[in-house]
Amino acid sequence: MTQPASTTDATFAALESEVRRAAAQLASAEAVENFRLDWLGRKQGRLKRLSESLLASAAIEEKKQIGQRFNALKTLVEAELETALERTRGSLWSDQSLRRERIDVTLPGTRRQIGAEHPITRTMNELVAIFAALGYSVGVGPQVETDYYNFESMNFPPGHPARDTQDTLVVAGQQRRAPRDRLLLRTHTSPVQMRTMEQQPPPVRIVIPGKVHRNDAADATHSPVFHQVEGLCVDKGITFSDLKGTLDHAMKALFGSSVRTRFFPSFFPFTEPSADVQISCIFCVGKGCRRCKQSGWIELLGCGMVDPAVFAFAAEKQPAYDPRLISGFAFGMGVERIAMMKYGIREIGQFYSGDMRFLEQFA
Ligand code: DAH
Repeated sequence: MTQPASTTDATFAALESEVRRAAAQLASAEAVENFRLDWLGRKQGRLKRLSESLLASAAIEEKKQIGQRFNALKTLVEAELETALERTRGSLWSDQSLRRERIDVTLPGTRRQIGAEHPITRTMNELVAIFAALGYSVGVGPQVETDYYNFESMNFPPGHPARDTQDTLVVAGQQRRAPRDRLLLRTHTSPVQMRTMEQQPPPVRIVIPGKVHRNDAADATHSPVFHQVEGLCVDKGITFSDLKGTLDHAMKALFGSSVRTRFFPSFFPFTEPSADVQISCIFCVGKGCRRCKQSGWIELLGCGMVDPAVFAFAAEKQPAYDPRLISGFAFGMGVERIAMMKYGIREIGQFYSGDMRFLEQFA
């Protein structure tokens, strides 16, 4: 059955005023929701049923007009709904169904603690920044390292007693691999010297912060896992004076300009000559105290001129590391030891304890 245009008009006009009237009376969020379901409900809503009944019976030429009126009605419902929602929002708290879910804005919120740099990270970053200012770039390498990089290429030959000074954990089940390819937890950051030189010809100026492992019993100043910052400088005509000047500057930048340094003969397989660097005791300013064992000096790092044997290993991949043409120095220091001095920490274990009372002091 088709309806004359005027009947359609009248039907929609009646519906529109009904919508306006009903919407104006909505007084609670619950009533608004019922209104929405009544008109716009997807299965049983009146608009849905209306469109089905009107369009099903309409003649093709009427469908367009009915469609337009229908859309206008729908827009009106939505607009009225929006207005009613706005109006009743203020009464949300008086609505029974919502009272149970009420938020108590007077309750304290969840406090999120803002983290801070760990003192080890901070010390490492500080060291890196000091060398970055001298034109050094930053390198990193794997903690699970091969025997070749950790020992052999650093001039610790297989079976050499120098290896005993750096015992570590080795990865199990590698008997089928060639000895130099067997994996272990690196005992120092020095292998990254070789990895760097294999990647680029000289000149090199690099600092390498990282975690290292040793088979050492833990005590107040030793931990089987700790951190080092390594340095390597290779160029034409690098001398021991360059090494001394660089490290003296770095120690002054780290501990203050009144700190003095001195160099003692030492031994490392990968440097020749090698030296241990001591700084004047920052606690007693060189007078002698318990911390420096009354000597006025504290030993802080190892260093030396890169051994030609190390350059020979690098030259296998980068022939420019010819010790007749270039020279270089290297150094390595323990980050924990430096951080303990800087911050007056007596127990290395505090760094790893996760005790907030300790860590908060660095925030
Ligand atoms: N790798 C040495 C260690 O862990 C530290 C070291 C000493 C690094 C002298 C160097 C160096 O680069 O030249 O004991």
